[in-house]
Amino acid sequence: MNLPESVKIIEVGPRDGLQNEKNVISTKMKRQFIDGLMESGLHDIEISSFVSPKWVPQMGDSKELARYYAGIQGTIFLAPNKKGIETALEMNCKKLAVFVGVSDSFNKRNINKTTSESMKELEPLIRTLKNEGVFVRACISTSFYCPYEGIIHPERTVQLCKQFEQFGVDELSVADTIGMATPKESYRLFSEIQDSTENILLTAHFHDTRKMALSNIFACLQAGINRFDASAGGIGGCPFAKGATGNVATEDVVYMLERMGIRTGVNLPKLKETIQLIAPHLSNTITSGYYTVEA
Ligand code: HMG
Ligand code: MG
Repeated sequence: MNLPESVKIIEVGPRDGLQNEKNVISTKMKRQFIDGLMESGLHDIEISSFVSPKWVPQMGDSKELARYYAGIQGTIFLAPNKKGIETALEMNCKKLAVFVGVSDSFNKRNINKTTSESMKELEPLIRTLKNEGVFVRACISTSFYCPYEGIIHPERTVQLCKQFEQFGVDELSVADTIGMATPKESYRLFSEIQDSTENILLTAHFHDTRKMALSNIFACLQAGINRFDASAGGIGGCPFAKGATGNVATEDVVYMLERMGIRTGVNLPKLKETIQLIAPHLSNTITSGYYTVEA
């Protein structure tokens, strides 16, 4: 078995987890959640996104959250366009994630542009961000399947990854937006991206719609990947991707990896306490394995 000694987990709960939440979560509650995640040993955290509050009302307090967290090492904010990136620069964000879908049909529904229109807009903005010393992560949606176009040929995802590499991004987060990928497809796509890129951090982002996420992570470990996005409590989903449900649960990823002797730096009991803080405010019950069995 090909297993690394340690794995980096990027916690996406406050952003991907909460963006799809129907209940209004107060900024104070979000802060308690984020602080708890940090105390659990999760330091790379997607905090919020600079998007239109008309499209995603739950992210409407992103500037307020940026006032607290933008200066803290590891915190990540998302922005899809010029306006969002300008806000991120004003707020002195140190790490910024841009996001684009491989499929036009999804990208149109998500950010009202085709994929190539988004890439054209992002290229000069990413160069500006790099000149300003900002760490840039590119999140790539519908990398395996699109809810509107069906299967995405791996070559299309690889091409988009290569384009982002040419723009100078530091990290690619390659996403199975609607949780349809299988371990074999995961192994293949991540191997191909690694073979086609150099000197770029490569992260896997699995939604757990069909309960394939942990198997996909295991397949990615075999392909040499050691960075994974995950969401505390397995909450999440993109409001503009039909059929998208929660991300793989951070606690289940940590449990699996630590039991296999792979260090994550995450304290599971503290993480459980943090999930217990947010759970009563959510509209869906948390069903992750570690939380349910050990709660
Ligand atoms: P639009 O309507 O085309 O925007 O939306 P516009 O440029 O025509 O402007 C319309 C209004 O929006 C204007 O305000 C702009 O100022 C404002 P008005 O004059 O009407 O008052 N506006 C903004 N406001 C705040 N922040 C901005 C911004 N840009 C324009 N950045 C837009 C385009 C991108 C704004 C919209 O489509 C949007 O907000 N989309 C957000 C979609 C989103 O957040 N999706 C979820 C995140 S992606 C994801 O979850 C996938 C991921 O997890 C990986 C995976 O799993 O696949 C990352
Ligand atoms: Mg996602």
